[in-house]
This record gives sequence, structure tokens and C-alpha cells, in this order.
Amino acid sequence: YKYTIVDKDTCIACGACGLTAPEVFEYDEEGIAQVLLDNNQGTSVIPDDLIDDVLDAYEGCPSDSIHISDTAFHGSPASGQ
Ligand code: F3S
Repeated sequence: YKYTIVDKDTCIACGACGLTAPEVFEYDEEGIAQVLLDNNQGTSVIPDDLIDDVLDAYEGCPSDSIHISDTAFHGSPASGQ
């Protein structure tokens, strides 16, 4: 299983991830990305049919703010393995 979270401290609101994976990433009122699956807690397993989109978004993020892990993040981008 894979989990994802956005580090909102490093996201530069470039807007790419929501175009690449609109079913996973949305933006707050300042344009900073967040995971819509779990309110950016990194606790929801990414559905199988969305993993490719998440990987594309991960690779395309210019500030490396999208984190992916085999374990849940529990709200902290630094907590994944
Ligand atoms: Fe932010 Fe990266 Fe998305 S900079 S808007 S998390 S592509």
C-alpha cells in the first residue's frame, strides 16, 4: 500500500499536481496543495487506479513537496519511510 502527503511548507503553489492527479490533490485558498483523500494527513491508502497519477505528480513537482511512502504519514511529511 502507498500513502501520500504534501509538505505544505515547501509547496510553491505551482499548480501541477492538481492537473496531473485531480482525484488526489486539491488546493487550499492560498493555492497550496493538499491531499484530498484524507485532508492531507497521509493516512489513506492511495487507490490502485490513482497510483500512476500520484507517481507522475511526485516526479513533476518542482519543489519535491509530494511525499510517497509505504507507511502512513499521520500528518507529518517527515514521518514516512
Ligand atoms: Fe505544490 Fe508541487 Fe503541487 S509545488 S502545487 S505540491 S506540484
